[in-house]
Amino acid sequence: MARVVLGMLGLGTVGTGVVELLSKHRHLTLKKVAVKSLDKDRSAMPSCPLTTDVDEIINDPEIEVLVEVMGGENPTVSYLEQAIKKRKHIVTANKEVLAKHGPRLFALAKEHGVAIFFEASVAGGVPLLSTIHKGLEANEIESITGILNGTTNFILSNMEAGKSYEAALKEAQDLGFAEADPTADVDGFDVAYKLSVLAALGFGHFVKPDTIYKEGIRNITEEDMALAKEFGYRIKLLGTAAKGSSNGSSKNTGFDVRVHPTLVPLEHPLASVSGPNNGIVVRGHAVGQLTLIGPGAGKLPTASAVVGDLMNLAGALKLPDFASYFQPAIEASPASAAPPLAWKCPFYLRLVVKDTPGVIGKIGNIFGTHNISISTIIQRGVEGKEATVVILTHDVLGKDMDAALDELKNCDFLSSLGNAIRIFRSA
Ligand SMILES: NC(=O)c1ccc[n+]([C@@H]2O[C@H](COP(=O)([O-])OP(=O)(O)OC[C@H]3O[C@@H](n4cnc5c(N)ncnc54)[C@H](OP(=O)(O)O)[C@@H]3O)[C@@H](O)[C@H]2O)c1
Repeated sequence: MARVVLGMLGLGTVGTGVVELLSKHRHLTLKKVAVKSLDKDRSAMPSCPLTTDVDEIINDPEIEVLVEVMGGENPTVSYLEQAIKKRKHIVTANKEVLAKHGPRLFALAKEHGVAIFFEASVAGGVPLLSTIHKGLEANEIESITGILNGTTNFILSNMEAGKSYEAALKEAQDLGFAEADPTADVDGFDVAYKLSVLAALGFGHFVKPDTIYKEGIRNITEEDMALAKEFGYRIKLLGTAAKGSSNGSSKNTGFDVRVHPTLVPLEHPLASVSGPNNGIVVRGHAVGQLTLIGPGAGKLPTASAVVGDLMNLAGALKLPDFASYFQPAIEASPASAAPPLAWKCPFYLRLVVKDTPGVIGKIGNIFGTHNISISTIIQRGVEGKEATVVILTHDVLGKDMDAALDELKNCDFLSSLGNAIRIFRSA
């Protein structure tokens, strides 16, 4: 195979894994790696020089492919733009920069006849993007739903085993699964970026990350986990990207893209995805439903996706006009996600109420007024003057649930609204 010369930005977790895997693929020659600091102690060093001057890589005409594994939005986006303008192909693991600047970067790549590969940006070692882009090319993709963040899945799995959210988060941080500032993971931002990338591949439009509904896992308690299990569910942080609306009507109300905790039936394949793994269900009109499960992050799994992209690219590099073959059909304008009010799904509710006569009837009346039909209601744990009421509903429109909860919050009998979590409904 012909020799391909690479430059890389970043030598952290993923970059180190890439160096390790590249040692077995000598035709992929790493010429230089840019890092932030030359003084850092490193677990592995490439045989090529390091630099802190990214221009040395971008302006080197011998380097044909830029591997971007430094992450973040800035200055990364400007480095990528400069490299594309110098007609370098890009292999990146960076979902944030793609979600925020994808339309511009892909348009620029088309203009300059280069390809952008990004398998590692979603679901780490799971070959999800190539499956959607090439393996399912004959399909109209209907929906992509999954556990796309290993950190939160690890935390939720540990909570299921009886740990508090705080203890489970601390363990994830101690083991290196979670950052010191876990916001991007636990509040759903990371999943939103990945959904934007998935929507681009599946439906042809990046979805603006700030329009995506994000609800994280900070409010989930061990009690919710235990109650969910009792009713035959497991709580997972699910990301969903679907082409149409999920309100059950035939009217298309736009892209349905969202991140929120979800009660997943125990028999559903996503319920069995445990620890730091990812699991994704893709639905195509011809193939039906396909489930992929595997490591969504980590040094070697993520490097496996990066180096897989490099090998794919290297194999085609000398073919005429090969880049157009790898350019996904992505529109230049990003789309917006539909607001949550029109989604329809069942809900799980945990309410803490004052233990006075007639409370259940009053809750039933409020729900009835807002078109909410209850499938199960139980009263639990009467302690002193308070009781926990757990309710499962049939399908409810988000706006009706919001209105009912607003009314409940003003009721004297409500001590606190414990939690309101959506129950899985196929998108
Ligand atoms: N970690 C995973 O499991 C995983 C999984 C999937 C995708 N990703 C994505 O892969 C990318 C890299 O993640 P990572 O975990 O490997 O990050 P990381 O461990 O923090 O490494 C970042 C690397 O980039 C270098 N860097 C930072 N700013 C730089 C700058 N301005 N100029 C040159 N180099 C700079 C750092 O240099 P120093 O070494 O000198 O600090 C470091 O080597 C991110 O986009 C991430 O979202 C990661």
